[in-house]
Amino acid sequence: MATNVTSLNWGVKQSFRNYVEVTGGVIEAGGGAERTADGGFTFTAAPGEGLSLDADGKPVGQGLFLGEARFEAHGGMLSVCLADPMLEISEAGAVITAFDSSARTRRVQIARLDLAAMSAGDEGELVIPTALSMDGIQVLGDHYPLNTALDPVRLKLA
Ligand code: HEM
Repeated sequence: MATNVTSLNWGVKQSFRNYVEVTGGVIEAGGGAERTADGGFTFTAAPGEGLSLDADGKPVGQGLFLGEARFEAHGGMLSVCLADPMLEISEAGAVITAFDSSARTRRVQIARLDLAAMSAGDEGELVIPTALSMDGIQVLGDHYPLNTALDPVRLKLA
């Protein structure tokens, strides 16, 4: 089945967003991503092949989404950018990866997806819980332990 996932809605981690904002920092969306009303980000699915849904309605394959989520605080000492997130779902597991800077030189695994705990959102979107991966720990400044719950990813279907 062709892809019918049109966008990825992900807030990364609500407490991290709160922290950046209360410390006087800046959160921006760029490169085609947009902020959502609840403070998260919407990334648009890249054209072409992407995720498809299997017979059970679970996403499979690789879905690339375009755009950047940028966080700056403490006079630039905190500078985090997640660019062009990708859902990579195979028999081996389900993860979300992203470039760790605007330069897009290094793609790292930010979190694992718990497909078994997937549910349907208010608008019929697929809501998948996430848990922080090793590389994601570094990207977020070594504050959260492995498997810390991040915000769930929300996949909007056409
Ligand atoms: C001048 C530099 C910095 C100062 C003064 C600072 C200060 C703080 C303070 C006071 C807290 C709350 C206490 C705590 O939970 O540990 C905190 C939390 C945190 N900081 Fe920083 N920080 C700095 C740099 C950074 C950098 C470079 C990062 C990299 C991403 C970072 C990421 C975080 C995160 C993820 C939290 C936990 C937020 C939450 O979920 O509640 N910080 N920081």
